[in-house]
Amino acid sequence: TGMFTYDPGFTSTASCESKITYIDGDEGTLLYRGYPIEQLADHGDFLETCYLLLYGELPTKAQKDDFVNRVTYHTMIHEQMNRFFAGFRRDAHPMAIMCGTVGALSAFYHDSTDITDPHQRMVASLRMIAKMPTIAAMAYKYHVGQPFVYPRNNLDYSSNFLHMCFAVPCEEYKVNPVLARAMDRIFILHADHEQNASTSTVRLAGSSGANPFACIAAGIACLWGPAHGGANEAALSMLAEIGSVDQIPEYVARAKDKNDPFRLMGFGHRVYKNYDPRAKIMQKTCHEVLGELGIKDDPLLDIAMELEKIALNDEYFIEKKLYPNIDFYSGITLRALGFPTNMFTVLFALARTVGWIAQWKEMVEDPSQRIGRPRQLYTGATRRDYTPIDQRR
Ligand code: CMC
Repeated sequence: TGMFTYDPGFTSTASCESKITYIDGDEGTLLYRGYPIEQLADHGDFLETCYLLLYGELPTKAQKDDFVNRVTYHTMIHEQMNRFFAGFRRDAHPMAIMCGTVGALSAFYHDSTDITDPHQRMVASLRMIAKMPTIAAMAYKYHVGQPFVYPRNNLDYSSNFLHMCFAVPCEEYKVNPVLARAMDRIFILHADHEQNASTSTVRLAGSSGANPFACIAAGIACLWGPAHGGANEAALSMLAEIGSVDQIPEYVARAKDKNDPFRLMGFGHRVYKNYDPRAKIMQKTCHEVLGELGIKDDPLLDIAMELEKIALNDEYFIEKKLYPNIDFYSGITLRALGFPTNMFTVLFALARTVGWIAQWKEMVEDPSQRIGRPRQLYTGATRRDYTPIDQRR
């Protein structure tokens, strides 16, 4: 009809103005509020990054202490939510549990669902950042059939999370600070990524005035897909399927074959056409974790490094500008930290929650904000008259 711009996949449509995250896909740059991701990953911590994403500036010492205190205050979830978990099948995918339980927060925290009230918005934001590790750890514990572990508020954010996941009754569990630091860095790397599919989903859901818990649940649902957050799980499964270094050429050939739907998981990105700056930090973190745990020969790491080398020198991948993305090395790292593959996307959701909230908050506070309502090019039947059923052929 020519009335609307046809842009499937929104490759050339800016859906909003934003001051939060900047990506230069050609240069391989990622900035949160202007700060390079490398500097935040090296020198910052996750809660400081949360503050930065939410409020636009790095906190002073006093601001940071206050923020950490306020987040820590909200780490518990209502005891009745335990029963909500019990309704899931024992082998439920942890992401299914996340979609359900995070959505259910709206039913437990009515006093922070009025989005017109700035105080309620702030409380909802703190609650979600604080409760996400608790819920994610509970999804894990439920899945493996162990009792829930309550948050320990004398531990930092990532140490507390590892403790809730891996402590078991009647056994001493001490969080390894090197692994906690790696976990924290993984959270920083995943904290925001401007208008990706799940963030756009959160904004679209929020544009109707839906409460923030419902919006984040929508984001989690979108993140689940293998082309988005599910890629780290898919990447590790792929490395396991390849099985040995000598099988790599066969898989590379399949990835290049137009008639084969197979893709190299953990390769390619809609925006990064040079390299994914997060992938470099992730690779470094991966080596640190394996080193700390004394894992010398990880066959999957060998396959990953060889696959990367082969693909980076292959004409197909060079021409299509396909580089390893963050998910290529995160799977190996998370597995070494002790997480089963079906928890990987949950960890991504935990970290991305702050980005979703920051973007949601920015949208709600924007006076020019209207409901998101894409248009379409209609290609269906033209007007026709109803035929009674006995006259249809
Ligand atoms: N392996 C082989 N070929 C590929 C791959 C791949 N991983 N990715 C893209 N291509 C080819 C694709 O076949 C297409 O070829 P042609 O132009 O001949 O049809 C061309 O490259 C462009 O691909 P596209 O699907 O049009 O690109 P896109 O921007 O729509 O997709 C992507 C981006 C990330 C979905 C895609 O690269 C992909 O499926 N990668 C594997 C999944 C993955 O690792 N996802 C994680 C992304 S980063 C974290 C996150 O966002 O959650």
